[in-house]
Amino acid sequence: MQNVMNGDEVDLLKFPVPRFHAADGGRYIGTGDCVINKDPDSDFINMGTYRMQVHEPNLLGLWMSPGQHGRQICQRYWERGQSCPVVACFGEDLLIFMASSSPIPWGRSELERAGGMRGRPVEVIKGPLTGLPIPAHAEIAIEGEVPPPWVEARDEGPFGEWPGYYSGGTLGTGEPQPVIRVKAVYYRDNPILFNSAPLWPGAPKYGLNYGEGKERLERAGIQDVVAIANPMPYIKVVAIRQRYPGHAKQAAMAAASGIRNGRWLVIVDDDIDPYDLKEVLWAMTTRCDPATGIEFINGAWSTPLDPLVSANPEKRDSGDHTNNLAVFYAVRPFHRRGEFPKVSRSPKELRQQVVEKYRSILPFPPM
Ligand SMILES: Cc1cc2nc3c(=O)[nH]c(=O)nc-3n(C[C@H](O)[C@H](O)[C@H](O)COP(=O)(O)O)c2cc1C
Repeated sequence: MQNVMNGDEVDLLKFPVPRFHAADGGRYIGTGDCVINKDPDSDFINMGTYRMQVHEPNLLGLWMSPGQHGRQICQRYWERGQSCPVVACFGEDLLIFMASSSPIPWGRSELERAGGMRGRPVEVIKGPLTGLPIPAHAEIAIEGEVPPPWVEARDEGPFGEWPGYYSGGTLGTGEPQPVIRVKAVYYRDNPILFNSAPLWPGAPKYGLNYGEGKERLERAGIQDVVAIANPMPYIKVVAIRQRYPGHAKQAAMAAASGIRNGRWLVIVDDDIDPYDLKEVLWAMTTRCDPATGIEFINGAWSTPLDPLVSANPEKRDSGDHTNNLAVFYAVRPFHRRGEFPKVSRSPKELRQQVVEKYRSILPFPPM
C-alpha cells in the first residue's frame, strides 16, 4: 500500500515488463504470479499461477489451462453472467509462489499450505475492492475482474512454454482467452517484478508437486511410496518399496489418475533415485521388459500446450486436449525379486569413502 493506482491511473507498463522469448507475442508481467479468486458456492479461496500478457496498461491476458481451479471458479461466475473478482500478485514469498504453482486439491487452500510449511500463517490484507486476501508482503498486487469471455476476450500469445515450444497466438491453439480488467494496483517503493518464465525445458522446476503427488497416492491407499519426481517435462517417476504383487500397478494407476501433462510415467524400485534421470534410465533398460512392461493409457488429462496436441488438427480443432500416457514398469517383477541379480554398484557410503580417500589423485569421482 506504499503506492496505489486506482481506476484511470492504472498503468502496468510503468513496470519493466519483459519479453522473454524471441517470438513471444507480447510482454508478460505474469510468469511467476499468484492469482487468487473465490468459489462463489463455498468458502474455498484458490491460488494458482497462470501466465499474464499485458494487452493494455489496465488489461491483462490470462492463460488458464482447461481444468485449472482458477478457471473453474471463473466459469462458475460466468455461468451466472457475472465477472469473476480476482487478485493477483507479482513478487511474493517464494513459498507462496511454490504453493500457488502446485496442484493442491480443490477445496484446500494454497495460502494455508504455504503457511503450514512456513510454520506461521501467511499475512494478508483484505483487498479494498474485492475483499479477497492479498499476501501482505507482495511486491506488486492488483485487483480486478475477469469478465465472461463472450463479453471480453483477447487473442493471447504466442508464448514460449515449458514443453520447449511456443503456444497460443496463431500457433495451433489460438483462441481468444480471458482477460483481467485491472481496477487497482498496489506496490512497494522500488518493487521487484519476480518472474519464472520457462525459457527452456531443462530449466529447474520448482514446486511442491512431489510432496503433493505422494500425499495423493497415500490418500488413495497406496503404501510405501518413497518419492515422486518430475525430472523433465512429461516424465513422472514414482519410486515405491514393493510389498506385494500388483503394488506397482496400483501405484501407477493412482499416479496416472492425478497426472496432468504426463507422457511417460515410470515406476521404479526404492533403490532408484527418481530425480536422477541416469538412474531412472538404467532401471528402464534393465528392469522393464518392453514386450510386457509398458502399457498405455489413452485420453489422459493434458493441455493445449502439448505440441503433439497442437500439431494435430483433428484434436486441436475439436478441443480434445487429451494425450496418451505410457506407463513403464521399471521395477523388479515382485514374484521374481529373489532371483533378480544383485546390483553390483557399491553402496553410496563406500563410494563416498573411496572418493574422500583418493580425492587428491582421482581425475573424477568414480560415483
Ligand atoms: C512458472 C509456472 C508458470 C505456470 N503458468 C501457467 C499458465 O500460464 N497457465 C496454467 O494453466 N498453468 C500454469 N502453471 C501451472 C499451474 O500454476 C499449476 O497447475 C497450479 O496447480 C494451478 O493451480 P490450480 O490447481 O489451483 O488451478 C504454471 C506453473 C509454473 C510453475
